[in-house]
Amino acid sequence: MFITLEGVDGSGKTTQTALLCDALGPLTVRIREPGGTPAAEGIRKILADPGTPLDPVAELLLFCAARADLVSRVIRPALGSGQNVVCDRFVDSTIAYQGVARDLGIVRVRDLNDAATSGLAPDLTLLIDVDPEQGLGRAMSDDRFEAEGLIFQQKVAAAYDDIARREPERVVVIDGTGTPEEVHGRVMAAVNQRLAA
Ligand code: TMP
Repeated sequence: MFITLEGVDGSGKTTQTALLCDALGPLTVRIREPGGTPAAEGIRKILADPGTPLDPVAELLLFCAARADLVSRVIRPALGSGQNVVCDRFVDSTIAYQGVARDLGIVRVRDLNDAATSGLAPDLTLLIDVDPEQGLGRAMSDDRFEAEGLIFQQKVAAAYDDIARREPERVVVIDGTGTPEEVHGRVMAAVNQRLAA
């Protein structure tokens, strides 16, 4: 099964990714985007650094380039050998951040991602839902996107809500408030429900 976790900066999805992977067992492949291959980790460094000026379309293409390498070299082989893959962010992040918050257009972002992933979609996406203001207060780094501020994060949150409304079969909204253990309980309920279906 291919599971992705999504949410605004500071939503706690990285903690939830770790807890979910522990629960699914040692054969689970855990990855974060952008990253997961040497080339994609190199791209991540450029993307994270607010001191490196970057054209918005170049930014979009770098996310897609990192994803193409990750999908073909890590995700597809792992799924092909029967492993579960849990990914901290995937295409929905690019739709929300670049397509909507950066206003580059959802259709363009979808088309580029179809090319980058050769159409791979998650079986289940867990959207960790927190108030963007609260998330920004919790976010620990100061990367390019957190530096954009609250209005940017609010646009990202609205885009995620829209994705969840359009694709209720794939996307489950998880209440991200409470302790990590409480949120993990909600995550596991959603995953177990999907596994039982
Ligand atoms: P992270 O903080 O969850 O590791 O993600 C890195 C940052 O990159 C985060 O602020 C969200 C942003 N991002 C995008 O803007 N587009 C994308 O496609 C992805 C995967 C991440």
